[in-house]
Amino acid sequence: MKVAIVGCGNISRRHAEAYANTGRTELVGAADIDLGKAEEFVAKYGGRAYPSVAELLATEEPALVSVATPPGSHAELAIEILAAGKSVLLEKPPVLSLAELDAVVRAEAASEGSVSVVFQHRHGSAGLRAADLLGRGALGRPLVAVCETLWYRPVSYFDPEWRGTWVGEGGGPTLGHGIHQIDLLLHLLGPWRTIDATAVRLDRPVEFEDVSLASVVFESGAVATVINSLLSPRELSRIRIDTTGGTLEVNHVYGYSDKDWTFHPAPDAAKAATLGLDPGVRKAPSDAVASDDPWTASAGEDVPSNHEAQLTQLVDDLLSGRPHSTTLASTRPTMEFVTALYASSITATKLHRTDLTPNHPFYQALNGSTPEPGLKNSFLT
Ligand SMILES: NC(=O)c1ccc[n+]([C@@H]2O[C@H](COP(=O)([O-])OP(=O)(O)OC[C@H]3O[C@@H](n4cnc5c(N)ncnc54)[C@H](O)[C@@H]3O)[C@@H](O)[C@H]2O)c1
Repeated sequence: MKVAIVGCGNISRRHAEAYANTGRTELVGAADIDLGKAEEFVAKYGGRAYPSVAELLATEEPALVSVATPPGSHAELAIEILAAGKSVLLEKPPVLSLAELDAVVRAEAASEGSVSVVFQHRHGSAGLRAADLLGRGALGRPLVAVCETLWYRPVSYFDPEWRGTWVGEGGGPTLGHGIHQIDLLLHLLGPWRTIDATAVRLDRPVEFEDVSLASVVFESGAVATVINSLLSPRELSRIRIDTTGGTLEVNHVYGYSDKDWTFHPAPDAAKAATLGLDPGVRKAPSDAVASDDPWTASAGEDVPSNHEAQLTQLVDDLLSGRPHSTTLASTRPTMEFVTALYASSITATKLHRTDLTPNHPFYQALNGSTPEPGLKNSFLT
């Protein structure tokens, strides 16, 4: 399958390497507005260099184009590639607003091509098992969840012109970083119903937040807390879900393997009856872990959650004419969640998912389309 890549910066090499490792793709070209970067890129990975996607598409016939440019350009580039009848793989965050998402969905409906989104943490073997087991109730009914993205980005991280701005980056750790864990959480727990959030700018030179916190209620009745930070020196990415059957947890930073996941079954009735009688001496319920619980029993080949895991699946899907699971449409709940988190923090109200109609002020832009960055008024600085 012929593939191409637009945007030859940091993450583009992950795309090139993942495509090459499938053994079933040919990289026909790479485009970057900085032609020198495209030339350097193709010298290493193959194909021809172009200064724009338009020029690439005028000459080459890729079936699939990876868009690895800053988020502010994703929607426009996706629409351009779809108009040429080609499929698109958009880096996260796929778009900067629900309005952009719907515009790309309309372009997709009118095109022969399809749009997929990079959310690699849906594609590791343990993530796939978690979605399957939770989806069919094999781990019990989800009740309480914690979703943490505690990362560290120094001031210098915001040096590139596009970073730190609503226009270029689109948002802070909620949109740009925590979105990985948020997407996985929603993928595992299903539709959310309400969000009550706070976002603050404490330290970094950005137009938006550097920390956000949300309290979430799901349609199932389950509840979660979500925190996203760029100020946390010991970095971690963690999702913990307590169900009626046990506690499922993944604890990693930028990508997990099977070993980063644990499942602690709920204690049996006899053991549970003893818990809390003498909190000073009792052992943790984790002692009750059995090797034949549904989580352990379903273990298979370990596939880490990286670009290679998802792009291998995507190439397989496209070559066999199957839709890829991580469609743009499947990421709408995640973009709605991010939109609602900003709307809730900026307007100091609780947001319901159904509030986010095209008439809602935050449908057009994550800062509510306010001429001045809205956060300046309502965030702590
Ligand atoms: N999935 C992940 O784990 C992951 C990790 C890092 C970054 N990303 C995402 O990948 C994207 C790129 O991030 P990066 O860190 O590689 O950025 P980067 O700044 O290193 O590279 C972006 C490149 O795009 C080029 N570019 C900008 N506008 C262009 C246009 N219109 N046409 C062609 N080229 C253009 C720039 O010249 C630059 O070379 C972002 O959306 C980011 O959020 C995803």
